Parts: sequence; structure tokens; C-alpha cells
Amino acid sequence: MNYKILEGKRGIIFGALDERSIAWKVAEKCNEAGASFVLTNAPIALRMGTINELAQKTGSEIIPCDVSVDDDMKNLIEQSMQKLGGKLDFILHSVGMSFNIRKKHSYTELDYELMKKTLDVSAISFHRLLQTCYNLDALKEWSSVVALTYIAAQRVFPNYNEMADTKALLESITRSMGFHYGKKKKVRINTISQSPTFTSAGSGVGGFDSFLSYSEKMSPLGNASADECAEYCVVMFSDYTKMVTMQNLFHDGGYSFTGASEEVLNSMGI
Ligand SMILES: NC(=O)c1ccc[n+]([C@@H]2O[C@H](COP(=O)([O-])OP(=O)(O)OC[C@H]3O[C@@H](n4cnc5c(N)ncnc54)[C@H](O)[C@@H]3O)[C@@H](O)[C@H]2O)c1
Repeated sequence: MNYKILEGKRGIIFGALDERSIAWKVAEKCNEAGASFVLTNAPIALRMGTINELAQKTGSEIIPCDVSVDDDMKNLIEQSMQKLGGKLDFILHSVGMSFNIRKKHSYTELDYELMKKTLDVSAISFHRLLQTCYNLDALKEWSSVVALTYIAAQRVFPNYNEMADTKALLESITRSMGFHYGKKKKVRINTISQSPTFTSAGSGVGGFDSFLSYSEKMSPLGNASADECAEYCVVMFSDYTKMVTMQNLFHDGGYSFTGASEEVLNSMGI
């Protein structure tokens, strides 16, 4: 598949750390689809990851931004418009970090200072991004913004911990900002709820391997890969989805609407 459906479009892609990152795949697919974009990540991730390789491959510039810092966000949006030569057509928010999971605190032993940081980096940052764009009038009419989420916002997955509440907030911000920005400028804002995917953030969740094989067995189409998620993002950034906004879009091979599968029942000896 290689259609230039993003030809002439300009964007920002948050969250490419290494080649397993979903954002990395999105950058590759956006590049194939003809878009130009800025890559961004937290300064520490820029030092640890391999984003330079991706920038070279896609002909992109890198602008550091810690999504929890207002000035970083403003600088990123202003610099991106300057470097890309105008207002933006699309943005991918692919950012997640749970400070309690990192410290191995269970859901019933959360440290609230850490939880505030998790909410700030992984959910409020989406509001910060959109509010900054709104105030700078950085997004074109009919532009498209996508954030990545997980079904733990709707159903309980015990090991997903505080990230479940964080994703619920992210999805709520999507609807509220989708309304306000849609009214003001016809900007579209959606979340894509992706299958478990083996990445740096994904594999930090306890019991991730069994998680992955359970959903593979439950989903009629199997788990959606990072590449397939990237293709969905490209479609969402394109003009083919102009009237889709304020939605949480499941990209999970049918997992979200499956109650039972033979494979799972068989594996239980039923
Ligand atoms: N991997 C999965 O199973 C899965 C499933 C559904 C949704 N998601 C979501 O996809 C998104 C991308 O995650 P991924 O799986 O590609 O993992 P990843 O670890 O490759 O990406 C997470 C990114 O967030 C960045 N980040 C963390 N703190 C930051 C900060 N303060 N400022 C700027 N950037 C910061 C990291 O540097 C990293 O690039 C996340 O929102 C995640 O919750 C992942």
C-alpha cells in the first residue's frame, strides 16, 4: 500500500523513541504518504533513543519538547510552523508514561504525587497541546489530531493500573476539545484504541506477554500491529475521514466487541 494521500500536508509526530515505537511506524507511513513533519520527544528520550536515524530517513527535523512543560509546547508549535512553512494539517500524540508502574506501586498503593505526574504527561499534555495550538491558531481548518489510547479506559485490566484512569481522561479531553475546536475551526480530534503492542511503554505493563497472547486469541482478526496502527493514523490524517471527530476508534482486530472465543475457551480446557 503506498498512496500519497498526505501529499502537501504538514504535521508533528510525538513519541518516536526507537523503531518499536508506534510513532516511529507512523512517521515512516506518513513519509511514504507524502507528508512533511517535525519529530519531537522529551529531551532525555532524544538522548536515549535512536530518533536521529528516523529523522534522517524521513527528512525531518527534531524539536525537543517535554509535554509537561508549557514553554516547551509553545516553542515546539511555533518552531514547527516556522520550519514547515505554515499552519499544521495533522498531529500524532503518542506519549505515555506511568510513574507508579515504573516504581512498581500497585493500584491500591498509588503515590499521588507520582499519579499527578502520570496524568500530566500522559493525558493533560493532550489538552496542553490542543490549547496551545488553539491559542496560536496553529491548526488549519479540517486538520486532524490523533492520540493513542487503550481499552483499559472502558474495561478493567488490573495490571494497567493508573494508566486506565489516565486514558479515560485522555479520551474525555478528546471529546471536549473536539467539540470546542470543531466549532472554532473544524479541527478533528480522535483517539485510536490500539491492540497491545510490544514497545518500550507497552512492555512496562506487568504480565504483558500473557496480555498479548490473550488478546490475540480473543480477536477474530488477531492483534493489530504497530504498522497497521500507523496505516490507520495515515487515513485519519487524510481528507477521507473529514467528518470523523470526538471518537474513540478501536483498532484491535475486533477484540473490543468479542465476548468469548474458542481459542480462549480451549486453552482453559473447556
Ligand atoms: N504498546 C501498547 O501496547 C499500546 C497499546 C495501546 C496504546 N498505546 C499508547 O501508544 C502510545 C505510544 O506508546 P508506545 O507503545 O509506542 O511506546 P513508546 O515507549 O515507544 O512511546 C512512548 C513515548 O512517550 C514519550 N514520552 C514519555 N514522557 C514524555 C514527556 N514528558 N514528554 C514527551 N514525550 C514523552 C517517550 O519518550 C516515548 O517516545 C502511548 O500513549 C501508549 O499508551 C500503546
